[in-house]
Amino acid sequence: MSVAILTGASQGIGFAVARRMAQEGYTLIINSRTPERAVALLQSEVPTAQIVAVAGDLAAEMTTTRLIETAQQFGRLDALLLNYGGPPVKPLAEIDDEEWRRSFDVMVVAPLRLLRCALPLFRQSGGGRVVAISSFTVKSPHPGIALSNALRAALVNALKTAALELGPEGILVNAVAPGYILTERIQDWNQSYAAREGVSPADIAQRTTTGIPLRRYGTPAEIAEAIAFLLSPRNGYITGQQLLVDGGLIVAA
Ligand SMILES: NC(=O)c1ccc[n+]([C@@H]2O[C@H](COP(=O)([O-])OP(=O)(O)OC[C@H]3O[C@@H](n4cnc5c(N)ncnc54)[C@H](OP(=O)(O)O)[C@@H]3O)[C@@H](O)[C@H]2O)c1
Repeated sequence: MSVAILTGASQGIGFAVARRMAQEGYTLIINSRTPERAVALLQSEVPTAQIVAVAGDLAAEMTTTRLIETAQQFGRLDALLLNYGGPPVKPLAEIDDEEWRRSFDVMVVAPLRLLRCALPLFRQSGGGRVVAISSFTVKSPHPGIALSNALRAALVNALKTAALELGPEGILVNAVAPGYILTERIQDWNQSYAAREGVSPADIAQRTTTGIPLRRYGTPAEIAEAIAFLLSPRNGYITGQQLLVDGGLIVAA
């Protein structure tokens, strides 16, 4: 039996990873603030899968405690997905100290705390795999998303350090950076840009996809395939990387 903790896994990319790993036979510990409906859906799709929901904000220390206690009940941990929904979209000039601190807590402190607390279980299991979901904008910062640009870069560099320090113990740590993946978040995003510019969401979608060499959004299942690979023992020699899954989007390095 292999056990995985997946945070931010009730919809979008996280849910697609959960679906893929349930099909692969993992025992899943699924976290989000409201994961119950997603867990019921997964359970109905893969009736043989063992799936436990741990509801809670990733930023809360209690969520870490409950996730680790749940994995301890299974006696091992093989894979850890670090994900959450993303910070508010705001120009730099409108972000006050409190907002920086709040976002730093959920985007940097919380995933690193969960990784740190998972280490004894990984060691007990003889190694492990960790993936954090970041964004293509880490490579090429976009305007209006300073919280994301700055704090995801901090997390990715901390995880590169973790990969260097934990490699000798067989713990492989990577980030996966989505390009434009068609999830609920992107649909909301298109709607808000459309409203602001007085055009339709379809116009925004067309403008976006014109800039992607594959000329379309990625699907959650496509990026989940890459993440599930990196989280599995099939990944034997990739660590410390940030993999762009972006349809070939051309970004400045
Ligand atoms: N989709 C894209 O094209 C794209 C592009 C670049 C980067 N990204 C990044 O990739 C990540 C996943 O994107 P997505 O499109 O799959 O997002 P999404 O559809 O909004 O899903 C986010 C997931 O995180 C959970 N979540 C949100 N806040 C949380 C919190 N404080 N604690 C625990 N769970 C939390 C949500 O469930 P609950 O509401 O139940 O908590 C949900 O399961 C995000 O960080 C996003 O910014 C996405």
